[in-house]
Amino acid sequence: KKRVLSGVQPTGSLHLGNYLGAIRNWVAGQADYENYFCVVDLHAITVPHDPAELAANTYTVAALYLACGIDPAHATIFVQSHVSAHAELTWLLNCITPLNWLEDMIQFKEKAVKQGENVAAGLLDYPVLMAADILLYDADLVPVGEDQKQHLELTRDIAARVNYLFARNQPPILKLPEPLIAKAGARVMSLTDGTKKMSKSDPSELSRINLLDSPDEIRKKIKRCKTDSIRGLTFDDPDRPEANNLLSLYQVLTGKTKEAVAAECADMGWGQFKPLLTDAVIATLEPIQQRYNEIMADPSYLKDLLKKGQEQAASVANATLERVKLAFGFTLP
Ligand code: TYM
Repeated sequence: KKRVLSGVQPTGSLHLGNYLGAIRNWVAGQADYENYFCVVDLHAITVPHDPAELAANTYTVAALYLACGIDPAHATIFVQSHVSAHAELTWLLNCITPLNWLEDMIQFKEKAVKQGENVAAGLLDYPVLMAADILLYDADLVPVGEDQKQHLELTRDIAARVNYLFARNQPPILKLPEPLIAKAGARVMSLTDGTKKMSKSDPSELSRINLLDSPDEIRKKIKRCKTDSIRGLTFDDPDRPEANNLLSLYQVLTGKTKEAVAAECADMGWGQFKPLLTDAVIATLEPIQQRYNEIMADPSYLKDLLKKGQEQAASVANATLERVKLAFGFTLP
């Protein structure tokens, strides 16, 4: 079986973009692959963070993986900081990654602008840690949203560089992974601006639907989301980014084809469409929330699962780390 690795940061609450762009696709493919799903807490401290919230969010994200349908029988679920090889391989990769590769990363540039004067060195280094996450597991496939494509290309470049520097004309040390980006849901846009992606860091709560939002909150957010004053709803009109986003959301949530949704909504006004979208969102999130509450009611189950995950992940990651260290010329104790 091909191996899959992916992760979500425990910063703030997870939203529909995280679900539709990433987690839902992990669930859909889990029986076909050998899976590693990580809560990437080391990534979460690349921007200022609150220690108490980090711990709580780490458990929340792990519980949401399960609540969204990840089956521990198919997947190893673990916390990044529990496997020290992630931080250690990052250092080795740092030392062979050209600085200008990192300075070119779109996500770094966007986040750095928001941070102003206080950009941490770790924010620049974020994609190297992500490369370490992936390369430690010899992952074949990395299911992510569209925004992570550039980081996946960088991961491949870093792996190729290690192979070139330390294993020229020899079997490669690191495997080059492929991104797995779904056609639908790979780029969910903000509810308050159809040209910006839905994001945990948007200051407006109205811009996103969180996986743990109550039906009332969901109703309110969709009622107040940005639309236009044109009658009849259409996909793919560059002048109507909100219409495209909301129709696309409705399409992925209901599992209908684009053609079916286009036909269904062609003559609708927003007042008619919004309740349909609201119902589709609530119908998707209600069972997830119910399972989430059940899982959180028994914290020892989750802790035991993460402990088992740590052991399984570490056994794979440590073997790769040792291989890389030997290739770099380090001595082993
Ligand atoms: P994070 O937590 O920012 O995002 C987690 C996943 O959600 C996807 N995503 C979206 N998809 C569609 N529409 C959106 N608006 C949207 N917003 C976020 C992201 O593409 C991602 O798949 N750097 C990663 C975390 C990471 C990782 C890894 C992923 C760390 N190490 C190793 C894969 C493999 C990230 O973006 O996290």
